[in-house]
Amino acid sequence: MSALSPTALKADKRTYKRLEINLRRNRQQDHTALLDQAASAFDYSACRDVPWNPERFSLLWGTPFWDQASASERVLLNQLYWVAYYADIISAEIATIYFNQTSAAALYGIDDFRLVCDTLDLESSQERAHINAFKTVGEAVEAELFGERVFTYSMRGPFAETVIFTDTNQLREKAKRMLLRTFGVLSAQNAFVGCQYFLIRGLRTLLGKIVQHQLSTFHAEQADPEQSPIPSQISFFHFQDESFHFNSSTIISHDVVKCLPPPSRLEAWVMNETVKGAQKDLRPFSVVGDGLNWHGPRTLGVVHKVLTSRVFGLSSREAVEMMRRCYGEESDGLHQAAETHRTAIASYRKYLDGIDWLTESNRQVTLAADNDIPRVLAANRRALDRFAAEVAT
Ligand SMILES: [Fe+2]
Ligand SMILES: [Fe+2]
Repeated sequence: MSALSPTALKADKRTYKRLEINLRRNRQQDHTALLDQAASAFDYSACRDVPWNPERFSLLWGTPFWDQASASERVLLNQLYWVAYYADIISAEIATIYFNQTSAAALYGIDDFRLVCDTLDLESSQERAHINAFKTVGEAVEAELFGERVFTYSMRGPFAETVIFTDTNQLREKAKRMLLRTFGVLSAQNAFVGCQYFLIRGLRTLLGKIVQHQLSTFHAEQADPEQSPIPSQISFFHFQDESFHFNSSTIISHDVVKCLPPPSRLEAWVMNETVKGAQKDLRPFSVVGDGLNWHGPRTLGVVHKVLTSRVFGLSSREAVEMMRRCYGEESDGLHQAAETHRTAIASYRKYLDGIDWLTESNRQVTLAADNDIPRVLAANRRALDRFAAEVAT
């Protein structure tokens, strides 16, 4: 194409316009200042007696532990869900910032892609404000309740597992780190890979949207939203920013990509492997929290820590017995988590529909769908036996 004729992106007026509108509106409504303000005004003592999420979004909701919990313990479980959920989001957003930058580096090498790159710059700086707000609240709550970290962690780089309690082990974690590093290098120099990173980002946001929409509604539905607990306000502000991020993920991965040549076999293979990774992240579900893709066996230590803490006061043996019931038996909590898991898989399928370079397994999301209640219970019971023996010694 001659340098003086319109580039493919500008020639696709509809897509270009949608990108412009999305960036303009995100700039106008940017919630960074509100999130920074909310984070610095957070005072746990001002909102420690009230829930921050709809009731269902509570740690161990619908399990035997939830059933026997007092009203004030249920409030704590509700707040701890917030802390746990956003600890998971922080890790995903740290990775997002990095891959926004690497992908932008590749895309900026194409004429007229400045608009896409400016969008990503704004979104990355918004993620930093999101992370700061989640971290400020999470750490303050854990310091007050436990005097130590439980779900939160110190700031870390983008190559850690994005789901903090995923189904992995040391070897697989090491391999994942290498894969993420390789993906970083590739996405920074290959326009197709850089562009299709946003397919992965869009997929991740889909599950986030299912939960975060409900968390944000909790704030919006308060009689006086201005007086709602600061963490609920943060959920709301965050969801507003994220809806723009989801739009840009969809426009870039589904429409902007059409301005690029079709993928080579190698490019399609790289992206199929990456979608497979996203499927692996989606596969687990557990009673710990609805909408969290946490692998039950990996969460035993952290839940034991919560139950034996000063605030819940169970002995180690009582905690293990309770955990056998919560993790090892069917419950409303488990059925709810399975239901959300099915909803997420259906929305992944819809998002991936019509993408011609995907393998059949990726298009049908078969790897993530290959999990169910009996398998979750069996894996939990095996892990509980090992865990009980470990804590008894
Ligand atoms: Fe975010
Ligand atoms: Fe985002």
